Amino acid sequence: MLTPALLRWLASEDARAELHALTASPPDDAQLLTTLTRLRKRFSPEQAAALVELARLRQRAETKFPGRARAMFFEREALEQASPAVVAAWTARRFARFARVADLGCGLGGDTLALAEAGCRVAAVDRRALAVSLAASNARAWGLDARVHPVRADVTRPAWEVEAAWADPGRREGGRRVFHPDQLQPPLASLLALQRTRIPNLGVKLMPGLEHAAIPPQAEAEWISLGGELKEAVLWLGGLAERPGRRATVLPAGVSLWREGAAARVAEPGAYLYEPDPAVIRAGAVGDLAVRLGLWQIDGDIAYLSGEARIPTPFARSWPILEHHPFHLKTLNRRLRALQAEVVAVKKRGSPIEPEPFRRRLHRTPGGRPVIVVLTRVLNRPWMILLAGT
Ligand SMILES: C[S@@+](CC[C@H](N)C(=O)[O-])C[C@H]1O[C@@H](n2cnc3c(N)ncnc32)[C@H](O)[C@@H]1O
Repeated sequence: MLTPALLRWLASEDARAELHALTASPPDDAQLLTTLTRLRKRFSPEQAAALVELARLRQRAETKFPGRARAMFFEREALEQASPAVVAAWTARRFARFARVADLGCGLGGDTLALAEAGCRVAAVDRRALAVSLAASNARAWGLDARVHPVRADVTRPAWEVEAAWADPGRREGGRRVFHPDQLQPPLASLLALQRTRIPNLGVKLMPGLEHAAIPPQAEAEWISLGGELKEAVLWLGGLAERPGRRATVLPAGVSLWREGAAARVAEPGAYLYEPDPAVIRAGAVGDLAVRLGLWQIDGDIAYLSGEARIPTPFARSWPILEHHPFHLKTLNRRLRALQAEVVAVKKRGSPIEPEPFRRRLHRTPGGRPVIVVLTRVLNRPWMILLAGT
C-alpha cells in the first residue's frame, strides 16, 4: 500500500533510475515475479512493489493524462477517481479570472493541475495525507508547484474563506460507486451550505445521473461528455454560473448546447438516423438539437432523431437508414439475408430486448455488408431500423 513515506522515496534520487526504466517498459503479468525478485535484491519488498505498481499505473494513466502520465505519481483508487486532463482543463477555464481558488477534495490533483495551468493559485485540500502528497508531487512534475499549496484538512470544517472553489466529492463508498448526492464524500448538501456561507463561487462535479430536481434554482448544470462518453455533471453556483439552466458540453470539440425547451415534431424515420450525444440527452436538450438542425424525433419519448440529409454535428452521430419496419424477428432475418448483411452492432432505445443474446439469433453473412440493427419505438410502436454501418 502506498504511503506518504513511500511516495517520498519514489520521488527521490534513490528510486529515480529504476523508476525511469520501469516506466519505459512496465512488466506485464508474466514478467511480474521475475521483476519483483530482481528488484528485491536492491530494495525492500515494499519499495519493489511500489516501483512496479507506479510504473503500471503510469501506463494506465496515459489515457487520462496523455503525454504527461510518465512523470506523475499515482495510487490506484486516486487514479480511478481523477478527472481526465481534457475535462479538467474545460472546467478550470471558468476559474481563470480568480487569482486564488481552492480545490476541495483534490485527490491526486487532476483538477488542481488544470486550475493552476489556468493561472490560479490553488489551495489543494484533502483530508487524506496521501492525496495531499500526491497532489504536491504531481504539481512538481508539471512544474506548477509555485502555484499549488497543499493543505490537509476536512473541507466541511473550513477555517478559511475563499472567493471561488472547485469540489469533486468522492463517488465511492467501500469500493462501490454511489448514485445519490447525499452519499458523496463530502455530501452535496454540505458543499451547498459552504457556498451559502463561505465560498460564493463554487463548481461541484457530480455523477452524470444527477436528477434535474436536485439542481438548485439559480444554478447552472452542465453535462460533459468526452469522445461520446458521458463523464460528469457540474453544478455551477454563484458567479460561476453563466446563467441558470442546463447545458450539454461535448469534448474534445469544446462546444455547448443550452436547453431552451424547444419541442421537436414527431414523425416516421427519413433518410438518416441521428443519435444525440449522451450529454445532450441528459441535459434534456434533444428537442433543441432537433430544432437547431431541422430534424425530428421518431417517437415522442425516444431520443433518436431523423432527417433527410446528413448534417455534420458534434452533438450527434448519424447513419444512413437502409430500411425500417415494425419489429418482427422473422422479417428482420429475411431482410438481413436479402441484404447479405453482417450485423456489426445492435443498438436499442425504448426496447426491452437485450442486444447481445438477440444478436446471436440474427442471420449472418460473414464478411458481408456492415449493418447496424436498431431496436426502438416509432410513433409508439416497436420498430426496427437497419443502418449502413462502417
Ligand atoms: C473524487 S476524489 C477527487 C479527485 C480529483 N478531483 C482529481 O481529479 O484527482 C475525492 C477526494 O475528496 C476527498 N474528500 C472526501 N471527503 C473529504 C472531506 N470531508 N474533506 C477533505 N477531503 C475530502 C477524498 O479523500 C478524495 O481524495
